[in-house]
Amino acid sequence: MPPKEGGHHRHRLVAPPPEFMPQKSPVRPQPRLAIPPRWRFAIPTGDHHAGRQVFADLECFKCHEVVGEDFPTPEAEQGDVGPALSGMGAMHSAEYFVETIIDPNASVAWRIKHHKAEQEGYLGADGTSKMPSYNDSMTVQQLIDLVAYMKSLTAREHRH
Ligand code: HEC
Repeated sequence: MPPKEGGHHRHRLVAPPPEFMPQKSPVRPQPRLAIPPRWRFAIPTGDHHAGRQVFADLECFKCHEVVGEDFPTPEAEQGDVGPALSGMGAMHSAEYFVETIIDPNASVAWRIKHHKAEQEGYLGADGTSKMPSYNDSMTVQQLIDLVAYMKSLTAREHRH
């Protein structure tokens, strides 16, 4: 049955938003995410003194040099060395540090490329980051404080 037009002008046909388009694949369309406007993930502000202690307790210094700190020097002879973290705080967002710590492989390819000359030795034989996972042992508060410590490392010695 043709639609009644009455005295009204004819509605222009516009394509429905993609989520209402009939799907050919059996995959159901995703509903719109319910998030506040301009939301983005932000980690709470931590205590960088406590974070320095976490860095010492978890022995991050075994692989990472921090210029100006008195941690033991990284164990270069074992080949377990990551990039120096001095000056890193000014170069990356807190959320970036969260990711490098809880999921180093998410962006390791970018970092390897970024570090260019020093890239050798950052990956294990299986092609994944040598950075160990702390996800089963680190508390969320330790993570928050550790990230505050990373952000506090703004001395310029680190060359990117
Ligand atoms: C066994 C050695 C090792 C230990 C221990 C280690 N890391 Fe790493 N880490 C690496 C290596 C290798 C990389 C470089 C590859 C990569 O980016 O995943 C790295 C990368 C990083 C990066 C990214 C640096 C950049 O260039 O952007 C951060 C931040 C970091 N580690 C923090 C930590 C913290 C915090 C700890 C302690 C909780 C820690 N690491 C313990 C080996 C280690």
